Amino acid sequence: MRVAIMGAMPEEIEPILQRVGSYETVEYVQNRYFTCNYGRHTLVIAYSKIGKVFSTLTATTLIEKFGAEVLLFSGVAGGINPELAIGDLIVATKLCQHDLDITAFGHPYGYVPEGAVFIESDAALRRRAVEVARSMGIVLKEGVIATGDQFVASPERKAWIEKTFHADALEMEGTSVAVVCDALEIPFLILRAISDTADMDAGFDFDAFLESSAQISADFIVKMVEQL
Ligand code: ADE
Repeated sequence: MRVAIMGAMPEEIEPILQRVGSYETVEYVQNRYFTCNYGRHTLVIAYSKIGKVFSTLTATTLIEKFGAEVLLFSGVAGGINPELAIGDLIVATKLCQHDLDITAFGHPYGYVPEGAVFIESDAALRRRAVEVARSMGIVLKEGVIATGDQFVASPERKAWIEKTFHADALEMEGTSVAVVCDALEIPFLILRAISDTADMDAGFDFDAFLESSAQISADFIVKMVEQL
């Protein structure tokens, strides 16, 4: 199977590139895509750069240009649910855009006509992730992930996102990737390890824990690929 593995930042895919060892690099639409064989699968690995626009471009390219049949996202997130501590893993059950707002026209937050507030991730991949977590003896939380083009470092904004979307974690790419995969009918999984808790210390914690949390997520994604 052709499996896409995507992150937003170099730190999110470097541990995966290290694990696969050797790969080819293809330059395309101002980005680099790394391809290799791993077990029974062909992998296409890329980081998009931060945010919904770049991640939309990369997810679309991974599918339309590189023929990905499944997409796994690995990276870090800000925790909302107090059960999530730094380094914990969450897999998205469904995802939404917390910064999408045409409420002036009577629509709910996160909604535009012909869209949907929430996009559901692939249930079979999620089940597989739960099995992998069990086999590794680790806890994997399943929950709602909210995406926006904002680094959230504010207790008020975090509380609003929690209240409005019942979100468990937030980040800046998951929902755009989900929208692309949903439209192109490609099963996807959005996995994140917590790097901060989106409050006043978020900037400091993010810098401190980006690498270690990205590594935790990457290790899990490699195990997932081995089980596909
Ligand atoms: N990714 C990791 N932490 C984040 C935060 N606090 N806000 C947005 N994206 C993040």
